[in-house]
Amino acid sequence: MKKIEAIIRPSKLKAVQKGLKEADIPCLTVIPVKGSGLQKSYSERYRGTEQSMILQTRIMIMCIVSNSNLEKCIDTILDNASEGQVGDGKIFIYDVEDAIRIRTRTRGKEAII
Ligand SMILES: Nc1ncnc2c1ncn2[C@@H]1O[C@H](COP(=O)(O)OP(=O)(O)OP(=O)(O)O)[C@@H](O)[C@H]1O
Ligand SMILES: [Mg+2]
Repeated sequence: MKKIEAIIRPSKLKAVQKGLKEADIPCLTVIPVKGSGLQKSYSERYRGTEQSMILQTRIMIMCIVSNSNLEKCIDTILDNASEGQVGDGKIFIYDVEDAIRIRTRTRGKEAII
């Protein structure tokens, strides 16, 4: 199992969610986040705040998928989240040790579908 954290533009959330559902990946968690990427920030002061401290508003989509669904999940996010512009976001991938569906106490791959 793998955990995918995709940081995307808020405007792309609907398309990504729809794409994942159509790809039979319906389970996900959405977290509003703020962050900064590679681009150098301005150093002028804006209303007393250093511009370099301003953070971009983004959405983090978190989903746990089976190894066999990993590339499909990544492709779906890439296809639906990209504008081809700076600030499109990033995808991080982690190994997941186990998962448990609380209702049935099912573990592992059976718990994440
Ligand atoms: N290395 C990182 N660690 C944690 N969060 C990150 C990292 N890189 C990007 N992010 C998050 O992703 C958001 C979007 O990043 P962004 O797409 O601007 O990345 P970038 O590296 O600047 O690439 P680009 O040049 O395409 O803009 C950031 O606001 C931040 O929340
Ligand atoms: Mg950037």
